[in-house]
Amino acid sequence: MERPEVAEVKARVNIVELVGRYVNLRPAGKSYKGRCPFHPDDTPSLTVSPEKGLWHCFGCGAGGDVIGFLMRIERLSFSEALARLAQEVGVELRGGGPKLELLSACQTVAEFFHHQLLSPTGQAAREYLLSRGLGEESWDRWGLGYAPDSWDALLKGLSRLGLDTLKELGLVVEGERGYYDRFRGRVMFTLRDDQGRPIAFAGRALRVAQPKYLNVPNTPLFTKGTILYGLDLAKQAIRERGRAILVEGYTDVISLHLAGFPEAVGSMGTALTQAQARLLARYTDRVVIAYDRDAAGSAASLRGMLILREAGLRVEVATLPAGEDPDSLARGQGPEAVEEVLSRAKPFHVFFLDSLAERYDLSTLEGKEAALAEARGLWPKVRSLPLRAELARGLGELLSLPEEEVRTAMARRRAAAAGPGGGPELSPEEVVLHFLVEGKLPEEVLPDLEVGAFRPEYRPIVERWLELWRAGKTPTPQALLSELDSDSQRYLARLSLLEVRFSDEARAIHDALVRFLYLPQLERRLAALAGKIRELEAEGDGEELRRLEAEYQQLARRRLALMRRGT
Ligand code: UTP
Ligand code: MN
Repeated sequence: MERPEVAEVKARVNIVELVGRYVNLRPAGKSYKGRCPFHPDDTPSLTVSPEKGLWHCFGCGAGGDVIGFLMRIERLSFSEALARLAQEVGVELRGGGPKLELLSACQTVAEFFHHQLLSPTGQAAREYLLSRGLGEESWDRWGLGYAPDSWDALLKGLSRLGLDTLKELGLVVEGERGYYDRFRGRVMFTLRDDQGRPIAFAGRALRVAQPKYLNVPNTPLFTKGTILYGLDLAKQAIRERGRAILVEGYTDVISLHLAGFPEAVGSMGTALTQAQARLLARYTDRVVIAYDRDAAGSAASLRGMLILREAGLRVEVATLPAGEDPDSLARGQGPEAVEEVLSRAKPFHVFFLDSLAERYDLSTLEGKEAALAEARGLWPKVRSLPLRAELARGLGELLSLPEEEVRTAMARRRAAAAGPGGGPELSPEEVVLHFLVEGKLPEEVLPDLEVGAFRPEYRPIVERWLELWRAGKTPTPQALLSELDSDSQRYLARLSLLEVRFSDEARAIHDALVRFLYLPQLERRLAALAGKIRELEAEGDGEELRRLEAEYQQLARRRLALMRRGT
């Protein structure tokens, strides 16, 4: 969890006073409102909650805690912002030159994991790496390692670094009976800064396990979303070749380097951030994105592409064969196949329009409406005038609409239908999330929540929340914030600050759960049953058929009852 000094700083800083130095705030109920300093704002869209210690702009989506606010408005790094606030409120941050010591400790840890990989305990991990085409020559170069399947291999093996240091590096976790190793039985990837210094770690499960990849939380050395995996080894090639290849995974990066594409770097699975875009822009003005097919068209990666464009980069998107990622493509079909895919990369706007045509049935009205709605969602983020023009023209063509109509539709503000609290309308998913992060969902519901049922942008929040809850902790938005990347931080602040004023809160929770969770679950079971019933009808199996039909009737009645109560 969060370092105690950080929690102390946050508790001592008066958020209304801090934000109030930059923004004229007025009280509004329990919170304060003002014009957002991060986008042109003519209505006060910024909400600041002293009670929660959070801020969020319902206009541009920015949000977070006091540290995040200062980082953003003064363009500071996490540790700089923390140091300033700590000084103001008189909290002493440990150590004078802590960073260098911590860096050297992190180096020691990298060596420890590497040593374990080479030792007898590391056999399964070595075999695993070899089976994935990662030969010995790459283990050293990429700082690959192994965290033994034990609760205290690191704690014991590196006790000389001191518990505090291991805590600070995010390598140990506090349980009911003391501390234990965060990474157990995992192949370890060393994350390095662009100077090649180890600053954090990620571990991949050797067998099928949840989560597949586990990362350290934010630490004084490492903030999620601020580095690119492999940049230290790629930066030279990126300059020389005049392009960077951006992929999602750790193994994708390493495989591409081995296949002769040393200009590959990894975004590490999460949505791309501005910090990463700026980092890349230091070395090149051209990026080719090679995400797997499902990921490329997602809202989060489309936004990432726009962030890259805003940083001044030329963005092209390569379309991978279905079911392949860069790693599987490079190893399965060789470097020529990779080069072929890269050479057919499309400029961002062409990719976007093609992907709409691919994902929606544009021969129907509904398909056109959905495609238009998606484009509208992206529109406010498109700042470039020529890009807007190009998109409007392309959309007009695609939807057989006059370009002027498209432009008008895009420019119109998204309908902000008044919800229960007079705010924007909330989806059942958002209502569930709001009550989840506020700790107000009934305990018995929690085991039913599946991370995969939520939209991708919310998943890291739900995942981390449930993880803490399962570990017997009481997760609060404030504590969760410091463990999430900056995009998830924004979503979390928003979810927590949503003004959900229902006359009957319990009822609202129940309704949202029914609509988001129970009805869809029931629908899935009904659909599965219907399939089986059809099969049996064909076979004419009487008894089993009657049993299934009865079950179907019963579930259908339950659905009806749920829907009646749910409205
Ligand atoms: P994927 O889950 O798409 O990778 O995650 P993959 O290709 O199936 O994984 P391998 O090749 O079997 O190892 C892609 C990237 O997303 C991040 C990691 O950076 C990973 O490399 N990720 C994924 C996480 O951080 N956590 C997860 O649980 C999963
Ligand atoms: Mn892979």
